[in-house]
Amino acid sequence: MISKIKFIVSAIALCAVADASFSQNPLFIPDTLSGTVFNLNIQNGTTQLYPGINTTTFGINGVLLAPTLIVNKGDWVTMNVTNNLTGNSNSTTIHWHGLHVPPEDDGGPHQIIEQGATWSPEFQILNTAGTFWYHPHGEGKTERHVSKGIAGMIIIRDSVESSLTLPRTYGVDDFPVIVQTKAFDVLNQIAVATEDDTAVFVNGTVHPFLDAPAQIIRLRMLNGSSSRTYNFGFTATQPFKMIASDGGLLDSAITLTRLRLSPGERAEILLDLQGLQGQTIYLNSFSSELPNGIHGAATVTGMMGGTIPGYDLNFLNGADFEILQINVTAQTTNPVTAMPTTLTTNTPWTNHTVSRNFSLAPDTMMNAQQQVEGPFNINGDHFDMEAINETVILNTVEKWRITNQTGIAHPFHIHDIQFYLLNVNGGAVPNYMQGKKDVVLVMPMEYVEVITKFETFANDSVPYMYHCHLLHHEDDGMMGSFLVIDTTTSISENNSLEEIRLFPNPSTDEINVSFSENLKSIQIIISDLNGQIISTEKIQLYENILKYNIAHLAAGTYFLQILSESETKIFKIIKQ
Ligand code: C2O
Ligand code: CU
Ligand code: CU
Repeated sequence: MISKIKFIVSAIALCAVADASFSQNPLFIPDTLSGTVFNLNIQNGTTQLYPGINTTTFGINGVLLAPTLIVNKGDWVTMNVTNNLTGNSNSTTIHWHGLHVPPEDDGGPHQIIEQGATWSPEFQILNTAGTFWYHPHGEGKTERHVSKGIAGMIIIRDSVESSLTLPRTYGVDDFPVIVQTKAFDVLNQIAVATEDDTAVFVNGTVHPFLDAPAQIIRLRMLNGSSSRTYNFGFTATQPFKMIASDGGLLDSAITLTRLRLSPGERAEILLDLQGLQGQTIYLNSFSSELPNGIHGAATVTGMMGGTIPGYDLNFLNGADFEILQINVTAQTTNPVTAMPTTLTTNTPWTNHTVSRNFSLAPDTMMNAQQQVEGPFNINGDHFDMEAINETVILNTVEKWRITNQTGIAHPFHIHDIQFYLLNVNGGAVPNYMQGKKDVVLVMPMEYVEVITKFETFANDSVPYMYHCHLLHHEDDGMMGSFLVIDTTTSISENNSLEEIRLFPNPSTDEINVSFSENLKSIQIIISDLNGQIISTEKIQLYENILKYNIAHLAAGTYFLQILSESETKIFKIIKQ
């Protein structure tokens, strides 16, 4: 094992850009910002990621990465996000990944921040203590903006976490570990949509080392890579404790020797360095142990034998390689020296009233290469800024089944909520996946089922996103949108004074929809009273009246949603 790791290190030195003068660099620890008003200036500039080589990078309040935001549960925060990026096509968005915030504050593709503009959402921190992150989410440009450097960590504190004896002094015994690989073009600029991501960075530092005290330390692991999954572990299979997953603390600390994190996922781990002063240990990725189909494994080969062009040329794929060198130094005063056992009590929801199915599939099922390379769709659709794919009724507990019908594993992410896994392909949920999560890696030809509740925030027209967190898949449209609607307040009036009117209601097989304004196209979604979608249809309008067929519906009451460019109307209709 050790010799293989050494081999890979020298391979990096030979292959990566201008990296002949290989030396370990001190791990960059992003500055922190705390309080309740955060001024975040997105900017571009030049960074020497490698000594003597200028690379254009993007960052927030700096030219690479972003400050770590430290916030308290319950606080109201204001985020003043200014887009000072220059260059073409650099409108962007900033999304608070994992945070439970209103859809209009979520920073998805609809909350565009034009160049020169400031976006200032204000929201309350409702999540429990944990490690979250923020990054751009612009339509079709997420990978470009994230991999050029815009990504930061968010640490939420609360009274439960604060009452535990845990390392929590940032940069002293509690460290951000943002792991990313990047690809470079011949001009030493960061490249996207390539399989050539051979340079490994932690917090933007190549070949990083960290001086860490000989006591229990906490590493806040974030896989901020565009595509690569890591199989983390330490030198000599040293065990560690995992205390938190994406959404916060686990019920109790679990002992692991390996931790697989796919793009977007986080974990907090404790590593015991007591008695190791003067020694060096390594955080590695043991990617040789990753199974076929995971981006980062030796092979991503589909059911029909297709592979991703250029994939096998990347020497990190299927290799064991170093992520971070840890040099153990003297203890601090008041070190944490004992591992915690119980941490918190998570209470997963148990009874769902709505089930939804999400099928991840290549656009052409019978093409061997497309099974692993895409383009991929979700339930047959690609992302459409104007469409709504799902409508959830506020306060509903739902089970979502995500089925992967492709040859590559996809990290599936849902905005707004944290979920719990009910099963992995019908079987048991591994202990490290039993906490609150917002990303789950779905293996090829398998499914997962998750349970969640859509609470607090509803909006009739601004959706949340669900998507694959492989950023080029997301950019290529492997993303959908969902509205959360509050049917106690948002049922539209249906009378002659309104712009949109339905008649007759109740009706038997045809319902007339009349419009007082000239609309070109609308989307009509019919769902049952739980929000379970029965049909969704995009319709071109040629007249101010539409005859809409409802003959196929069983007798009963339904929601009929009409989405136009400007608004959403939700009616209750009765089919006789
Ligand atoms: Cu981390 Cu929708 O993203
Ligand atoms: Cu997110
Ligand atoms: Cu994907």
